[in-house]
Amino acid sequence: MTNQEHPIGVFDSGVGGLSVLREICKLMPAENIIYFGDQGHVPYGPRSMEQIQNFSEGITKFLLRLDSKIIVVACNTASAAALKYLRETFPNIQFVGMEPAVKPAAEKTQTGRVGVLATPATFQGALYASVVERFGAGVELFQHTCPGLVTQIEAGDLESPKTRAILEEALLPMLEKNIDTVVLGCTHYPFVIPLIERIVGENVRVIDPAPSVAKQAKRLLEAGGMLNPSTAQSNIQIFTSGDVKIVESVLTKLLNETADVKSVTWKNDREIQ
Ligand code: DGL
Repeated sequence: MTNQEHPIGVFDSGVGGLSVLREICKLMPAENIIYFGDQGHVPYGPRSMEQIQNFSEGITKFLLRLDSKIIVVACNTASAAALKYLRETFPNIQFVGMEPAVKPAAEKTQTGRVGVLATPATFQGALYASVVERFGAGVELFQHTCPGLVTQIEAGDLESPKTRAILEEALLPMLEKNIDTVVLGCTHYPFVIPLIERIVGENVRVIDPAPSVAKQAKRLLEAGGMLNPSTAQSNIQIFTSGDVKIVESVLTKLLNETADVKSVTWKNDREIQ
C-alpha cells in the first residue's frame, strides 16, 4: 500500500463524527477511512480536559498503528481539550480539528445575535475563547450546552419528545433574544438539524461546520501529495469501544447505510489493546 492509499483516521467520542465522515466521503469518495467512536467513554463533554487528552492520545496511537495518513479530530470537545496537545505529542502527523463556526456566523448574521450549541468542555476550552476573541466582536453570542442531547443521539433518538424538549430549552430563549443564526458546535448535533429547523423556523440559519472540515482535510492531503488516486472501491472501517450491535443499529439510522463495526477494548485511559 502506498502512502496515498493509507486511510484517513477520524475519531469522536461516539457517532457524532459520522456527520464529518459523511462529508469526507462525499468530497473524497476514493479515500479509505478508519473511524473510531469512543462509545466506551461517551459523552466527553462533562469530562476533565486531562481525561479527554488521554483518550485522544490513545485513539491517535491506535489510528497510527493502522497507518492513518492524517487524523481528523471530528469532535469539538476533543479538539478543545486535546488538539494542541496532540500536535505537540505527534509532530509527524497532521491533524484537522474543529472549532465552533463563530466566524461564518458573525459574517452572516443580520441581527448580530447568534446561538451556539456545544458541550461544557468546548465552552471552557481556550480554543472557544480564542474564536470568540478573533471573530465575535460586535456579535452577541448566546451559549447552551444542551445537557443530555449527545446521549439521545447516541441512542438514535432523533425525534422523540425528550429530544425535542432538550432542544427547545436551549433554543426558545435564544429565539426570544432575536437570534438569526445557530452554530452547531458539536458534531453530534447535525443529526438533529431537521428537528432544530422545525423549532427555529426558516428565518434562522443553522451552521454545520462538517463540510468545511472535509474541505480542510482535502486541502491538507492535496498539499502533501497524499490524495488517493485509486479508482477502486474505497474501504471504510468503523471501530467502537462500546457495544457493536448498538453502534451498528444507530449507524444505519443516522447514515442510511449498514456497516460491520469492530470492537476494541481500552487497556487503560491512554492505551487501546
Ligand atoms: N461530538 C462531540 C463534539 O463535537 C462530543 C460530544 C460528547 O461526547 O460530549 O463535541
